[in-house]
Amino acid sequence: MKGRFITFEGGEGAGKTTVLRAIQKKLENAGYQVLTTREPGGSVIAEKIRDVILDTRHTEMDNRTEALLYAAARRQHLVEKVLPALEEGAVVLCDRFIDSSIVYQGVARGIGTDEVREMNLFATAGLMPDLTLFFDVDPETGLSRIGKNEGREINRLDQEDLAFHYRVQEAYRSLASAEPERILTVDAGKTEEEVEKEAHGMIISYLKGRA
Ligand code: TYD
Repeated sequence: MKGRFITFEGGEGAGKTTVLRAIQKKLENAGYQVLTTREPGGSVIAEKIRDVILDTRHTEMDNRTEALLYAAARRQHLVEKVLPALEEGAVVLCDRFIDSSIVYQGVARGIGTDEVREMNLFATAGLMPDLTLFFDVDPETGLSRIGKNEGREINRLDQEDLAFHYRVQEAYRSLASAEPERILTVDAGKTEEEVEKEAHGMIISYLKGRA
């Protein structure tokens, strides 16, 4: 694979999506071919799967069903969008990937990290991100940022209580300490400008180091 696969992870309101867009522009200005994407990423099939997951009427959704659906949408998006871009040599910036499932389904929903990781490795045929940035923010700060963003859609997951979001943060932190080479932590409690600068610096030094 000629390209580089970089994923952005973190809890709600960590600012990763905004920072991702800013970094895309900077990398393109520096001459990199960049694909920014997020699951389901405009894949018709993955989009339909995602609609089933996020439908607020689906209150009877079983945790393992949810995990399988995320993995299925992931597989389809990977095959249709990510792999072709990597083959062309692009830097792929993806908003959430396998670590979201490990954290949300594996830990926060209590299925177990190993099982969720294994099931997802089946979906990705063993592919893992080359680099992952974890945007670490205090859940209360993150949720209050979301509250201010009135245009944002409310989904089933936003209704979870604060404890859920603390479990998410703890789970990301332990993944980051278990895989320090792949997962770098960005202090996302700072201003947007500072967060963007830190994240951009991490990506540039990774790309230059691997050039
Ligand atoms: P979204 O509105 O896209 O949130 P964000 O802007 O924070 O990325 O909702 C994504 C939600 O889906 C978020 O709460 C995390 C959850 N999720 C999982 O539970 N498992 C997964 O594998 C993925 C990709 C997302």
